[in-house]
Amino acid sequence: MIDSTTRLYGLLGNPVSGSRSPWIHNTVFEAYSIPGVYLAFAVPPEALEDALTGLKALQVRGINVTIPYKTAVMPFLDSVDPMAEALGAVNTVVCDAGGWRGYNTDGSGLLAVLKRRLPVLKELRILVLGAGGAARGICGALLHEGTGALGIWNRSPEKAELLVSELGSLAGKGQSFFHVESEAAFQEFDLVINTTSLGMEPDTDASPASVASLKPGAVVCDIVYKPHRTRFLRKAAAAGHPVIYGIEMLIEQALLAQQLWNHLTDLELDRIRNSLIEEFEGFYK
Ligand code: ATR
Repeated sequence: MIDSTTRLYGLLGNPVSGSRSPWIHNTVFEAYSIPGVYLAFAVPPEALEDALTGLKALQVRGINVTIPYKTAVMPFLDSVDPMAEALGAVNTVVCDAGGWRGYNTDGSGLLAVLKRRLPVLKELRILVLGAGGAARGICGALLHEGTGALGIWNRSPEKAELLVSELGSLAGKGQSFFHVESEAAFQEFDLVINTTSLGMEPDTDASPASVASLKPGAVVCDIVYKPHRTRFLRKAAAAGHPVIYGIEMLIEQALLAQQLWNHLTDLELDRIRNSLIEEFEGFYK
């Protein structure tokens, strides 16, 4: 119930219509009787500073930040977690008596999903498709974790090369991080993660790669979650590849934000994760 103790949480981006974040966070508040309400705010660029000033005055409790403001909000924060600093992108802000602190739970969310599903993650050769903001967060988290060899492919090769040079310093000893130039090399990888927008609604017939070019049995993960079953994942599953759906990462980055805001226990997170995934799958039945 919303009453005088209810605190405000929100998503800042442009556009935000169609975001699943309000559904996830308000479901968490309700499930655990947390006095919060989460709203999505579409903020035009010229109003970003006023929006942040207003939210500070209203003592907002937590903020998520999405495209195009993940970097733009950073100068307005009191401190930034070292990983978010290294990535140059913040998607979660904790607002309390200690000030406004920025974090990045995008890459760590996917990493948590992968670690749960693939206990041998550190031994796998991993390929990331795409070199945009999402790829940056994911590569950063994988490099920080010290996973196996990490390759990156992109339609515009110069962006993949730039990412390799910018994040290369995060690679641990003996860990290789390199640009993959052609689809012929895709068969060398055990896990393939699509971070491009290919396959996303409304262009659901698009796919970032041909499944025939992948190693037989390679795990295929897509961070696109609209639609739930992208063409890439449908083709991969039909060819016998294990698949990981984008909704799992979306839910995980949100639960990591909830952990920062409201310190939920692992048991509470497990319960709500499963019920959110079931409910989401229900939307697409
Ligand atoms: P995000 O923050 O979601 O990662 P982004 O920074 O705009 O979004 O990055 C989008 C990614 O999808 C990029 O890797 C982009 O490739 P380019 O760098 O070549 O633009 C990729 N992408 C988008 N549309 C694509 C298409 N039609 N074919 C191949 N790659 C595409």
